[in-house]
Amino acid sequence: MALAVEDIVARCRGALDEHTPALAVRDVLDALVAGPTALERALGPVELGGITALHSADDLTILRVAWTPGMALNPHEHGMWAVIGMYGGQEDNAFYRRVSGGLEPAGGKELPAGDVLVLGHDVIHSVANSRRDFAVAVHVYGGDFFSVGRSEWDFETYEERPRDFARTSRLFEEANARWRDQK
Ligand SMILES: [Fe+2]
Repeated sequence: MALAVEDIVARCRGALDEHTPALAVRDVLDALVAGPTALERALGPVELGGITALHSADDLTILRVAWTPGMALNPHEHGMWAVIGMYGGQEDNAFYRRVSGGLEPAGGKELPAGDVLVLGHDVIHSVANSRRDFAVAVHVYGGDFFSVGRSEWDFETYEERPRDFARTSRLFEEANARWRDQK
């Protein structure tokens, strides 16, 4: 049987019953990204960057996220644990810590296809795709990703503000337009 979205959802939901759900989800994603072709078939082709919700509940959100080549998303927190499983391209993560009046950089991690990254509930990161192909991943969050109140920070000034999904959508649109012009 071919892998289907409902299988991915069922495996992640099963992980919530484990003692440490984020680590159990990591194991699920480790297995999934080991078969990128099956994942691609289940989730469909990527033609543009964007966020596709595969499952949305109070205790679990599963997204397919495709970062457009050249795109960067400003620092943000999730307010819940997150697990990112890359199955195409590469996502470059930069981490930050809160300091009075803003943020300071705190290292980074390149995440190539096949890698899985677990982020604790208090992590602040920014994400960039510096490659010439889409960076594609399954993102799993231990809560309701779309309605929990949380912060983002300006890329240059590190000024804190409420997370703004309309702004994120515009970033995707601008990056997609630039990418289409370049092709
Ligand atoms: Fe994030």
